Amino acid sequence: ELFNLKLLEFENNDGFADRSSYCFTQFAIKELFPELTIKKKKSRIIKLMKTHTTISSKKMYYNQQEGVQINQLTNLLKQEQFKQIQQRLADRGMRKGFACLFYGAPGTGKTETALQLARETGRDIIPVNVSEIKSMWVGESEKNIKELFDNYRLAVEDSDIAPILLFNEADAVLGIRQEGATSAVNKMENSIQNIILQEMETLEGIMIATTNLTQNLDKAFERRFLYKVKFEKPNIKAKQAIWLSMIPELSKKSALILAEMYDFSGGQIENIARKNSVDQILTGKKTTLKQLQEYCESENITKGGEGKRIGFR
Ligand SMILES: Nc1ncnc2c1ncn2[C@@H]1O[C@H](COP(=O)(O)OP(=O)(O)OP(=O)(O)O)[C@@H](O)[C@H]1O
Ligand SMILES: [Mg+2]
Repeated sequence: ELFNLKLLEFENNDGFADRSSYCFTQFAIKELFPELTIKKKKSRIIKLMKTHTTISSKKMYYNQQEGVQINQLTNLLKQEQFKQIQQRLADRGMRKGFACLFYGAPGTGKTETALQLARETGRDIIPVNVSEIKSMWVGESEKNIKELFDNYRLAVEDSDIAPILLFNEADAVLGIRQEGATSAVNKMENSIQNIILQEMETLEGIMIATTNLTQNLDKAFERRFLYKVKFEKPNIKAKQAIWLSMIPELSKKSALILAEMYDFSGGQIENIARKNSVDQILTGKKTTLKQLQEYCESENITKGGEGKRIGFR
């Protein structure tokens, strides 16, 4: 009876239901003991929550188009504005959830933008361990995804300012679903994706997904993202600003030269700025344009030129 009422479930450790012991479901805990804040063992796909006060401020420089979109999104997600919008959507019987997709080349600032957005709007981040989702047992992963969204729903209800559910590097779950999948792995991937799609339908808070995928993004996902921001490689003006912000002792002219010579992402420029700092600390040498150019050349070689992600991040 209690099982049918969804008040009890079997204990479940590491994916195996233990039929000799029971525990309350999240639902039961919420219904029966609303006054208690019971900390539940977190599933592995939910990493530690990141409070917005721990995110350090970083100035981002965008191309015109992305800049406008991100500005708009930041304003929308400021609490005052967000509350009004949600109310209006509810009045019109529309879904209240805000799902945003940041997509584009590696190192163009997608993850950092999500963090800065959270910081500026005072929202905590609940990060999802996307790689864990795929490495779990078949039945287990489906259950854990549901639990993830249930936990998120509770977090939204419990906080004045809705936190952001962050699917960082979500390529694995946003890719095209396999039609008529036969292998167990493909079937599982499809069902994981279907569950996420379903959950997105009833999402009440804010979800941000970042991905390098541009071509083979599943259309069903594409449709469910209300805001999609494409991150292009920075143009010369943006690159110049990034160079200057990362190596403040650089002259504007040198920064422009570097911006014009190298087709780098912000992430690549950051790499070079780091190398330069390390070098300065070790040798005490001043920053020179020539030295920076040498770093740029070697960055070009190690990265194999355009776009491709090599090595680990
Ligand atoms: N537009 C930008 N303005 C300023 N800094 C930038 C910009 N883009 C990237 N950076 C710098 O590069 C670092 C790496 O960027 P980030 O990790 O956000 O890239 P990403 O788009 O998420 O890449 P990936 O697709 O590989 O995950 C940032 O922490 C930031 O310092
Ligand atoms: Mg990233």
